[in-house]
Amino acid sequence: MSNSERTPERTPEEETAQQTVKGVIAREKGAEVELADIVIPAPGPNDVVVKVQATGVCHTDLAYRDGDIEDAFPFLLGHETAGIVETVGEDVTHVEPGDFVVLNWRAVCGECRACRKGDTKNCFNTHNASKSMTLEDGTVLTAALGIGSFAEKTLVHEKQCTQVNPDEDPAAAGLLGCGIMAGLGAAVNTADVQRGETVAVFGLGGVGLAAVAGAALAGATKVIAVDVDKRKCDAATERFGATYAICSKDLSEDEVIEKVRELTGGYGPDVTIDAVGIQPTWRQAFYSRDLAGRMVMVGVPNQTDHVDIPAIDLYARGGSIKPAWYGDCLPERDFPTYVDLHLDGRFPLGEFVSERIGLGDVEEAFTKMKQGDVLRSVVEI
Ligand SMILES: NC(=O)c1ccc[n+]([C@@H]2O[C@H](COP(=O)([O-])OP(=O)(O)OC[C@H]3O[C@@H](n4cnc5c(N)ncnc54)[C@H](O)[C@@H]3O)[C@@H](O)[C@H]2O)c1
Ligand SMILES: [Zn+2]
Ligand SMILES: [Zn+2]
Repeated sequence: MSNSERTPERTPEEETAQQTVKGVIAREKGAEVELADIVIPAPGPNDVVVKVQATGVCHTDLAYRDGDIEDAFPFLLGHETAGIVETVGEDVTHVEPGDFVVLNWRAVCGECRACRKGDTKNCFNTHNASKSMTLEDGTVLTAALGIGSFAEKTLVHEKQCTQVNPDEDPAAAGLLGCGIMAGLGAAVNTADVQRGETVAVFGLGGVGLAAVAGAALAGATKVIAVDVDKRKCDAATERFGATYAICSKDLSEDEVIEKVRELTGGYGPDVTIDAVGIQPTWRQAFYSRDLAGRMVMVGVPNQTDHVDIPAIDLYARGGSIKPAWYGDCLPERDFPTYVDLHLDGRFPLGEFVSERIGLGDVEEAFTKMKQGDVLRSVVEI
């Protein structure tokens, strides 16, 4: 490349260190995703280039491409990722080349007002790479959840990399990077399910089934799984530790609530988890729980939805309603733990991998996701 062709803000050293790889972008709202050449700049002092091995297809990627999250097109999609650290910036100490890592979108800063009071899971200033990945013409790409890893390589902050046991299958490990951790953590961290408690989970996609498995792992004696899709109900009881499943397809909202209560001595579960994010499941989770029960919202509502319940029901029923962002996880504490539990046969992480696909198959994977045919399609590179 001649000097005249260089992007002016890049030094000659950076030019030699930058790389061009293939990645999946969403160019405009609702348009099909496309495979493009992506420029990965040389890492800044605390940045890391990761060679991607596997990335799960998450609902949030589809939400980005549909413009439901923000309008900063074009996006570089993908964020549920495991890979190998390739090159590191000059000040990086957290990882080194060759490390097997799961990427996270909660690289806590340690200095914001939440971190200072020890509430690091609510960090308001999480770290991302200091530089942007671009298209070849210099157009800046917005990386999904600050990661952007439906790509052969990606650029992240060193603290977005969490080392886990390299014996793990990258396709399984990467799923901890978002949806599976979100559901699992909703049960284990946010609801803080205790041994002997009863739990109901509404919606059994990857997130809901992870909540089911998390509740079982935490020692819940009854785990009730609810979905409109019979296939998901069967998966919940056969592979993820649910003790009962309710297929709610032909049931009214009140009938679902009644059935959940019947299965828990007429009172309702101690904990209910909405893993869909729509009015009917929100109401089912709210009204089916026991008095003073805890309800967790992990399903993401759309931008315009409202919840209309009598204020007296909020007050008189007691208990709590808690949103769960990323399962209230701390990646450095939680990712290695659940990888080890999986490798020891105590957590069904590998069961979430429904199919392994290539970088060119992401659009098709969105269709399968919408039809409920998969828990997770995982792009392998
Ligand atoms: N809070 C977080 O940090 C976080 C992270 C990742 C995903 N999410 C959200 O979690 C939700 C679930 O994600 P997913 O990947 O499991 O999605 P998914 O589409 O795979 O699963 C949704 C499930 O809900 C079921 N469902 C739909 N309508 C229902 C109803 N009326 N009653 C019962 N079940 C119903 C579907 O059959 C499906 O099995 C989404 O809203 C997603 O955005 C939240
Ligand atoms: Zn912070
Ligand atoms: Zn996700």
